This record gives sequence, structure tokens and C-alpha cells, in this order.
Amino acid sequence: MKRLMMLGPPGAGKGTQAQQLAVELNIPQISTGDLLRAAKKNQTDLGKKAAPHMDNGKLVPDDLVIGMVVERLKEEDAEQGYIFDGFPRTLKQAESLEEMGVSLDNVISIIVSDEEVHRRLEARRTCSECKAIYHLIFSPPKSENTCDKCGAEGSIYQRADDTPEKIEERLRAYKAQTEPLIAFYQEKGRLIQIDGEGAPEEVKKRIQKAL
Ligand code: AP5
Repeated sequence: MKRLMMLGPPGAGKGTQAQQLAVELNIPQISTGDLLRAAKKNQTDLGKKAAPHMDNGKLVPDDLVIGMVVERLKEEDAEQGYIFDGFPRTLKQAESLEEMGVSLDNVISIIVSDEEVHRRLEARRTCSECKAIYHLIFSPPKSENTCDKCGAEGSIYQRADDTPEKIEERLRAYKAQTEPLIAFYQEKGRLIQIDGEGAPEEVKKRIQKAL
């Protein structure tokens, strides 16, 4: 049973690394961002409540996110462990997890500069079907409109919160609400700090070595 978490600013590469690690360890990646975007797309009650916060680059209220994660953890594939991607993101979320008796084995904190965050996010593209992550310069899809990974056509899109203004707002939210988790997990002896700059393969090797 392995319970991991990817922590880091928007665009740090949490999703990119979590997707690969999940395959290697044969455990699911639980991305609260992906779950919230799906809820928003499907116009569920949760999605409707979360939408205005997401659209403004703010965090979704803790109670909504915690409730969603509690439900997700009941699914069978989470029994053998998981990688949280983007959760917990506030002290309240981290404390709720502890109260539920969920103890993370390792928290992988990926460090990148604000400039790199902008460079990465302004050219990010995602597949709406399989969630494959691309970058127009660093890792473009072979064809503009077709996903290399799942073959879906017309599925490559740019996230609505990847504009320069929203990225700034998300960075502000990260620094104010999420960065304190670095000290929280360091004190518990579970933090692994990873330099997130350099090619995705290099970052992956650093994570593998640290784990
Ligand atoms: P979420 O989807 O979690 O977004 P985020 O944290 O802002 O992170 P990103 O997905 O933008 O970046 P990433 O670190 O995964 O980077 P990626 O691998 O894609 O959350 C979205 C919203 O949902 C939040 O703003 C909030 O409203 C809400 N939310 C979610 N969870 C919540 C929670 N727990 N509580 C409250 N609200 C919540 O990489 C980025 C780009 O860089 C890609 O193009 C990629 O190809 C490229 N790249 C990656 N690594 C490298 C590398 N080493 N070199 C060059 N390029 C690279």
C-alpha cells in the first residue's frame, strides 16, 4: 500500500509526473483538479458550486473538495494505494486527511520558479479524453488535433485557467494557502523536495531516486 502526494505550484509538473508514477506503481492518480473539471463539465451540484472559484483561479472551498475526495477513496482501485495530485492543498484539507486516519508515506514537493510556471502553463495543452498533458514547445502532440496517447480527434484543448492573469491568481493562492503544507509535512518527516526544473525525464529520475 503506497500513498503518495504531489505538492507544488501550478505548472510544477505534478500531473506529468503523477501520471507516469501511477503507471509504474500500478496505483491510481487522484487529481482533484481533473475531478473538479469533470464535475464542472457535467454540471453536477458540486461542479456548479466549484465553477466560480476555479474560473477565478481561487481554491474551491475545503468542505466541497474533502467531500469529493472521501467519495473517491471509496472506489475499489484506491484500496491498494494512490497518488494524490493537487490534494491536500490547505492545512484544513491536510488535517482532515489525518483525522480520517490516512497517513501519506511521502509528499513530493516539486520546486520551480514563477517564470517557469508561466512558460509551462501558457503553452500547455491537454487531451479532454485521456488527460494526456502536452506542451506546444517542450512536448507537442504529433498532430495539432489528435491525441498521441488515446487517438481521440479534436480532443486537444487549452485550459481556461491557463491565461497569464489566472496563472498569477493561482500562484497567489498557492503561496498563501498551499505553501504552508511544506513545513507541515517536513515536521512529520514525510517531505521529499525535488528540483522541478529540467526535462521531465530528469525530474522523473530525481523522484525515483528520492523514493
Ligand atoms: P489543478 O488542475 O490541480 O491545477 P494546478 O495545481 O494549478 O496544477 P496544474 O494542473 O496547472 O499543473 P501541474 O503541476 O499538474 O503541471 P503539468 O504536469 O500539467 O487545479 C485546478 C483548479 O481546481 C485550482 O485552481 C482550484 O480552483 C481547483 N482545485 C483543485 N484541487 C483543489 C484542492 N485540493 N482544493 C481546492 N481547490 C482545488 O505541467 C504543466 C505544463 O508544463 C505542461 O504543458 C507540461 O507538458 C509541461 N511540463 C511539465 N513538466 C515539465 C518539465 N520538466 N519541463 C518542461 N515542461 C514541463
